[in-house]
Amino acid sequence: MSGLLPRGGTIIGTTRTNPFRLEEGVERVLEHFRSEDLDALVAIGGEDTLGVAARLHAEHDFPVVGVPKTIDNDLSATDYTFGFDTAVFIATEAIDRLHTTAESHNRVMVVEVMGRHTGWIAVMSGIAGGADVILIPEQPISVDECCDDLRRRHDRGKDFSIVVVSEGYELGEDDAGAEDEVDQFGHVRLSARGVGDRLAKLIEERTGYETRVTVLGHVQRGGTPTPRDRILATRYGLKAADLVQEGRFGQMAALRGDSIVDVSLAEATAELKTVPPEWFHVAKAFFG
Ligand code: F6P
Repeated sequence: MSGLLPRGGTIIGTTRTNPFRLEEGVERVLEHFRSEDLDALVAIGGEDTLGVAARLHAEHDFPVVGVPKTIDNDLSATDYTFGFDTAVFIATEAIDRLHTTAESHNRVMVVEVMGRHTGWIAVMSGIAGGADVILIPEQPISVDECCDDLRRRHDRGKDFSIVVVSEGYELGEDDAGAEDEVDQFGHVRLSARGVGDRLAKLIEERTGYETRVTVLGHVQRGGTPTPRDRILATRYGLKAADLVQEGRFGQMAALRGDSIVDVSLAEATAELKTVPPEWFHVAKAFFG
């Protein structure tokens, strides 16, 4: 693992595959694990990867421990997943850059960020970047309310605005016509929905303000990790090694406050960790 600290991505070439959906997938995993004479598996990932790990442990007593890694930060039982801080950093930097051009051309800039069905990246980068409206799945304000906030701001003499929208935000009655593709885990491919594009059109139609959209997409998952993510991943790695050494399989390293603890994989994957209203209220204080 020497030399990995400044690198992102998957180093040993694994994929996000669901063996439970493949014919004899689980049997092949078990057989391969035996034939390679492995002692333990450390599963590093989000709800899908860790969901598979949890089932392998529960149904096959598989010697696996988990490490929470996803830019979405949507795993319950841990305060933060690693990868999230880096994605927020990238999105914030993009918002900063978009401010420059929004202001120069008196435009509304819509920024679509990832996050699946939770708005963690949108809320955090939106607060950090000083967004004028943030739209997330958990606390959906309507397109009309968003337009009202923008009008209020422009009436105050501001002639540009930044709107951050999470890919999982639903346009409600304006959503008609959205076609959904699903992945191996049955998740809708939200980036294909194009919420940012459709929102930008609606804002321009309803307010008359010239509007442009930037979809950050997979840029948020690349590049070198922030110091905070490097440190978190290092601490999680040590915890995972301890869990393996102690034979405490079926557990996941987790962050609670400033401490690294362990929780069961079953608990960690039981439900999504959504953005609590308090966080959205912090962001909302600056809308319009
Ligand atoms: O779970 C991480 C994530 O980047 C989500 O934010 C996004 O919806 C999804 O993965 C994109 O998946 P894919 O790389 O398969 O397009």
